[in-house]
Amino acid sequence: MAIRAVYHQGWTLDEVGWEHFQPQAVEPNLLEAIKAAALVEYNAPDYVAYLKRIFRDADPATIEKIERWGAEEAQHGRALGRWAQMADPSFSLEAAFARFRAGYTPAHFEGDAALSVRGSRRAEMIARCVVESGTSSYYSAIRDATDEPVLKEIAGRIAADEYRHYKLFYETLHNQDEPDMSFLRKLWVAAGRVRESDDDELAFAWYCANVPADQEAAQPYNRKLHSRLAAKTGMTIYRRRHIEKLVQMVAKAVGADPHGRLADWGSSLLWRMMQKKAAAA
Ligand SMILES: [Fe+2]
Ligand SMILES: [Fe+2]
Repeated sequence: MAIRAVYHQGWTLDEVGWEHFQPQAVEPNLLEAIKAAALVEYNAPDYVAYLKRIFRDADPATIEKIERWGAEEAQHGRALGRWAQMADPSFSLEAAFARFRAGYTPAHFEGDAALSVRGSRRAEMIARCVVESGTSSYYSAIRDATDEPVLKEIAGRIAADEYRHYKLFYETLHNQDEPDMSFLRKLWVAAGRVRESDDDELAFAWYCANVPADQEAAQPYNRKLHSRLAAKTGMTIYRRRHIEKLVQMVAKAVGADPHGRLADWGSSLLWRMMQKKAAAA
């Protein structure tokens, strides 16, 4: 049985074994995906500001947890960006991030509304749980797919953080004194957050990370094309166990039995859809 390292919360970039980097083990598709993921993670401060507005009258401990969460997400961006710069010295995290920032701001990050775009704090927390379920299974899949030792370590560390984030938001969800939502409403919020994954965030991050600035005129941004390219790697690295875990986590967040029939059915359906998309890619 393989023994997997246990990664603690609050790790720093200095703890990563960068010296074990093996350039010949870098897979080009995975490198493209890591560059894009670095930009999305590095953009966390906007999300921190948004969540702090929604929780503005919450206890200081909750605010502190939100800030720590945001700092960890931004560190994910720096860790992935540093790895991508080692794998491809022509890549610059800061330069690609500046282009991403200039072209992408979701509407709900602007202004100072204290209400979640999803209608309530509980709904916002369900949406967060969906995202953390997705990232935790995505980085687990990367950890298991890559043979490059440093990426394997970073992805393992990040996957452990994402799982802790899920637990943080799950607990926060249940600590709200707002009335509970109906099961169908929770499902709707979760499905809505999954649908948002088709928006510009990842597609445009992929574009800024992988199309050099001097190629912009020749290869203009095309949401459909670049979201397909952004999704391509994900479709091929997932294994069935990653999808099962992902669906179990989402099921738990919406109040369904993670080992029940709905979750089983959901993961079979998602797995079949992903295999189809992987074959098409
Ligand atoms: Fe993250
Ligand atoms: Fe996270």
